[in-house]
Amino acid sequence: MSEDLQTDVLVIGSGPAGGGVALALATLGVEHMVVTKYSWTANTPRAHITNQRTMEIFRDLGIEDDVLAQATPHDLMGDTVFCTSLAGDEIGRVRTWGTHPAREADYTLASPSSNCDIPQTFLEPIVIGHAASRGSRIRFDTEYVGLVQDADGVTVTVRDRVTGHRYDIRAKYVVGADGGRSMVAADVGLPFEGQMDVAGSMNIVFQADLSHLVEHRPSVLYWVLQPGADIGGIGLGLVRMVRPWNEWLIVWGYDITQPPPEVDDEMAISIVHELVGDDTVPVTIRSTSLWGNNKMYATRYRAGRVFCMGDAVHRHPPSNGLGSNTSIQDAYNLAWKLAYVLRGSAGEALLDSYDAERTPVGKQIVLRANKSIEEFGAIFDALGITGTDDPEVMRRHIAARATNTPEAARQRAQLRAALELKDYEFNAHGVELGQRYTSAAVVPDGTPEPEYTRDAELYYHPTTWPGARLPHVWLGRDGRRVSTHDLAGKGRFCLFTGIAGEQWAEAVPKVADDLGIEVVAYVVGPGREYIDLYEDWARVREVEEDGCVLVRPDAHVAWRSAGRVDDPAAELHRVLSTVLARG
Ligand code: FDA
Repeated sequence: MSEDLQTDVLVIGSGPAGGGVALALATLGVEHMVVTKYSWTANTPRAHITNQRTMEIFRDLGIEDDVLAQATPHDLMGDTVFCTSLAGDEIGRVRTWGTHPAREADYTLASPSSNCDIPQTFLEPIVIGHAASRGSRIRFDTEYVGLVQDADGVTVTVRDRVTGHRYDIRAKYVVGADGGRSMVAADVGLPFEGQMDVAGSMNIVFQADLSHLVEHRPSVLYWVLQPGADIGGIGLGLVRMVRPWNEWLIVWGYDITQPPPEVDDEMAISIVHELVGDDTVPVTIRSTSLWGNNKMYATRYRAGRVFCMGDAVHRHPPSNGLGSNTSIQDAYNLAWKLAYVLRGSAGEALLDSYDAERTPVGKQIVLRANKSIEEFGAIFDALGITGTDDPEVMRRHIAARATNTPEAARQRAQLRAALELKDYEFNAHGVELGQRYTSAAVVPDGTPEPEYTRDAELYYHPTTWPGARLPHVWLGRDGRRVSTHDLAGKGRFCLFTGIAGEQWAEAVPKVADDLGIEVVAYVVGPGREYIDLYEDWARVREVEEDGCVLVRPDAHVAWRSAGRVDDPAAELHRVLSTVLARG
């Protein structure tokens, strides 16, 4: 059997990155194919925390409601417990993922979308299902074998894992979204910094009704401090909710310098019972697997016509819940650029901005996730149990914090500070939403980057500074609320201005027509289609009413003008030509 398959974009992998890019390309009408190694989507829950930026992307791609329908909602996510076992001593609680009343406002103000918890096993079929229904041609059981690039395209060799048959697919561009052991990234020689397999972790997926131990403190994460909890792993033993409250995943560490443990059902059940703290709870083990914690990121994501994304280019532990989120955000960044280039609306150089914009994000999240593991050390220090594995010593020291002595008071204060440090893992809103891009696809407006007035990792700082994510505010249309993010996206550029800036809006149709692209103009003000319901747009826009904010299809600001200019059409033409590398 010989085949002569051609496609504009060949996507390798159907995880959050590959599925995400397929969905975005399908939504934008870009012809593409997906090949993926296994017969279906992820078979273990893995990623689950789905942050607001990802939910905004799902909102733009029209799947937010489907995701929410299968997710555990925001309000059940956040009473994160630190304990000696689920049935044992509670050492402390941290309100996470923006559920602290003092943080809830930051999250609610920042986005039209709320974060949620959806295991990868539930998310991937939604993403892939919608991609397929919109035109993605997806080949399961199809393994990437190798590729050769030339000036016009890429020839990719794949192997059908059912028949063993090898064949070639010819593509104009290739997306390598083949995960943390990416062959594509290796084959095209992407440069990496860091180290793989710095620690060992095991996943144990199991069913057990633990309602009685958790319902009164609902959370997606329960952290368990037991002997061995600091060996390998992700900081402490973790009991993670998959489905409330009868399906769970335990992450437990092992010493990666030793031979890997053989985790049979007996060992898995014993670990579950230890962490639950009750060996009478009936447990059914669904699966076990071993994986390595990585601290590695690519310093370049592009090699000619091949682009890599997701775990293929940023490899890190699950701390902060950033892996799948960042993979989907990589996909969203690249998809519109491929669409514009393939349509002839942008120069090839636009694709370089993918690399420029996403490599700093990849590095940031790899370092952040690894630092979050190190920061668990402060809890061990506070309790005075660093370095000990003796259960009796641990029990005594942990219990000591309840006594009325100056040492115990110091221990309590230190523990409080150690738990507060975990905000950098569980309430890092700035890391999740605060990405500001610098690239040739962003046109500076001559103003310096706005300073961070609060901690840049913990707090999101809305700004329309070119390169930043468009701030969300609720505008009004026919009396109903509509987010600035609902007006952006959909593969189009858009421009926001005020009544005094109507000349910008008037210039848009001709500029869009000249460039052969879609640009939508919104004049925000009384008596117009969109009104500034709460005057919030006036507060965040950082330009005068007669200025404008030009937004890219991925809801990042392309450019802004502080006020009126003599020839808005010429100015918009210049800016859009620059963003689109139209030479
Ligand atoms: P991923 O590995 O998911 O997918 C790779 C794809 O490539 C698969 O479809 C595979 O079949 C395919 N493939 C591989 N080799 C191939 C070949 N040779 N040919 C063809 N196809 C090939 N993240 C997050 O955002 N929030 C969270 O809460 C968590 N939590 C979490 C918990 C635990 C325990 C783990 C282990 C991980 C997380 N993560 C996370 C991280 C998250 O799971 C991870 O970052 C994403 O799955 C990465 O998505 P990718 O699509 O890049 O790779």
